[in-house]
Amino acid sequence: MLLYALKYLYFYFKAGYQHTVYSPFIYELYTLAIQDKKEYYAFSELENLCQELISDRTQLEVTDFGAGSKIGSNKNSFNKRSISEIARHSAITQKKAQLLFRLVEYFKPKTILELGTSLGISTLFMALAADSSKTQIITFEGCPQIAEKAKENFEELEQENIEIIVGNIDKTLPKTLISLTSLDFIFLDANHRYEPTLNYFNQILEKCHNDTVIILDDIHWSEGMEKAWKEIIKHEKVTVSIDLFQLGLIFLRKEQPKQHFDLRF
Ligand SMILES: C[S@@+](CC[C@H](N)C(=O)[O-])C[C@H]1O[C@@H](n2cnc3c(N)ncnc32)[C@H](O)[C@@H]1O
Repeated sequence: MLLYALKYLYFYFKAGYQHTVYSPFIYELYTLAIQDKKEYYAFSELENLCQELISDRTQLEVTDFGAGSKIGSNKNSFNKRSISEIARHSAITQKKAQLLFRLVEYFKPKTILELGTSLGISTLFMALAADSSKTQIITFEGCPQIAEKAKENFEELEQENIEIIVGNIDKTLPKTLISLTSLDFIFLDANHRYEPTLNYFNQILEKCHNDTVIILDDIHWSEGMEKAWKEIIKHEKVTVSIDLFQLGLIFLRKEQPKQHFDLRF
């Protein structure tokens, strides 16, 4: 925890604001979406759902496939955890979730793929920003009981365009990708380890196009995640990468020169 705080401090002093950005594409993205401070109506609806989950003491049998939670993760282990605990420790923070919402609103993707549904909070932030009649959302979760609760949450907020694929992503992702032609917006938030992160990134890259947006969660969370992030930004197909510390954004736009930005958010 102390190391993470020190890393953040180091990042904070080296990262810049919009005046350090000379690319019009990044400047607009940063000022209109990343730094946007508007309070959207959906935020309060989703905040209510989060509060509901935080006060829910129901115990779930948790199947943990990877380092997806910041508390006690054992590979392929089973244990009981309350919905409240999952909502507090594994779910996305409001700040990051609201950014996902703004990014979906800004880019208007038609196909969204998410690895790591958990209770469906991040999925719902993306879904509520999207036009449900035109957007296909596919999200992956390994734990059946958590996935069931996520489905309930999707129903509660009347989001019918979300498909949840239950099972180990190592197996479900390759199968699902076969049936997809292209992906516009991807959020990687499942197994926070080096090898799975790179492996999932390389697989989804096959379905990306020039304007696909790829977002990785917790890029500085562990040495493994930092190593994966550093390799991803060096990938020959990646042109623009933005480090926001809590999240990393990847773009493949061929019209951009290869550039990396450390930006405060
Ligand atoms: C950090 S949580 C996701 C949080 C969620 N995106 C949100 O913001 O509310 C990571 C989730 O990924 C799932 N997960 C991790 N590794 C997995 C794997 N190999 N296959 C399927 N699900 C996995 C975990 O069960 C966990 O629910």
